[in-house]
Amino acid sequence: MKGVILHGGHGTRLRPLTHTGPKQLIPVANKPISQYVLEDLRDSGIRDIAIILGDIYPEKVKEYYGDGSKFGVNITYIYQGEPKGIAHAVSLCESFVDDEFVVYLGDNILKGGISRYVKEFSKSDLDAMILLCKVPRPELFGVAKFDENGRLVGLIEKPKKPPSPYALTGIYFFRPAIFDVIRKLKPSWRGELEITEAIHNLLVEGYKVEHRTVSGWWKDTGTPEDILEANRLILDEMKPHINGVIEDSSSIQGRVSVGSGTIIKRGALIRGPVIIGKNSRIESDVYIGPFTSIGDNVVVKSGEIENSIVMDGCVININDRIIDSLIGPNAKIILGEESKPSGRRFIIGESSRIIL
Ligand code: DAU
Repeated sequence: MKGVILHGGHGTRLRPLTHTGPKQLIPVANKPISQYVLEDLRDSGIRDIAIILGDIYPEKVKEYYGDGSKFGVNITYIYQGEPKGIAHAVSLCESFVDDEFVVYLGDNILKGGISRYVKEFSKSDLDAMILLCKVPRPELFGVAKFDENGRLVGLIEKPKKPPSPYALTGIYFFRPAIFDVIRKLKPSWRGELEITEAIHNLLVEGYKVEHRTVSGWWKDTGTPEDILEANRLILDEMKPHINGVIEDSSSIQGRVSVGSGTIIKRGALIRGPVIIGKNSRIESDVYIGPFTSIGDNVVVKSGEIENSIVMDGCVININDRIIDSLIGPNAKIILGEESKPSGRRFIIGESSRIIL
């Protein structure tokens, strides 16, 4: 089986972070979201993977994943550019795939992975298999419709009145019949070729389509809140490892991972689950609280941070507590000089959010 990762889209809801890179490269527990996807495919035995690139810094994706050898896979890049829909992106893979393949949205994370579904679909003669997940707000997703006998009879994209609480996760198994159906699609109200509609059409045209319901959590990371939740879910299961220098072991409470070259000064308090990357420095006045990921080359001189993601190269030096925050690479949050006029100074980009 071959794999396809969707790495395009606009990421509008994640600006300004998506002004400088695709949303799928935003780190969760210090690893890009799409790396969880790639590793899930690899760990399911899939070696040949196509990455569909959009028009937001696609070269950053190529630079990170290269030819895939560092990750134990072979990567083919396919350029989509403008996001014309998931089904459009899938249609670009026709010459890449031979028979069965799995499409995995690069911003989805599924606990427990897809191995068992890969085996099941390979052995089957199905034209498509979808994974559903029961969610509290199905209207935000593609939603499954069942008849009174519990048979899947339709799929509808972001319905105002959801026919069931079962959302389509962004993991789809296909055989080449899907390409014929996509060729007949027309753009939806949002101007996209919808994969939900394509699978619905497969179903009503009598092709073999089945669903499975995932147990455990599944996360679509489209918003800052989703990313922080994914960060909590991953950190909650993290196995701790300490490679850096901890000046006083009483600084560490609970499950904490510290990368090589990082120093945690005596007097700092790190209360897990927390991950800190490589070559960072946490000074003695600092408190880092649960569900926080701190990247590489970060300096936290003073302040408290909880339930947040602080990306590579940041400097934090404040007398305050940062909570529920996503802080992009190389950002500085520092105390001003005590000179007049006093006040807060900002140098921030388009679509930034400051909540004081
Ligand atoms: O996450 C699951 C949901 O994903 C499903 O329940 C929906 O049925 C499905 O339409 C999709 O909904 P979203 O509105 O969340 O899709 P979004 O536009 O965020 O795109 C999902 C991923 O695919 C994202 O990583 C960007 C990528 N993408 C998207 C489009 C439209 C592309 O690579 N190319 C595209 O043209």
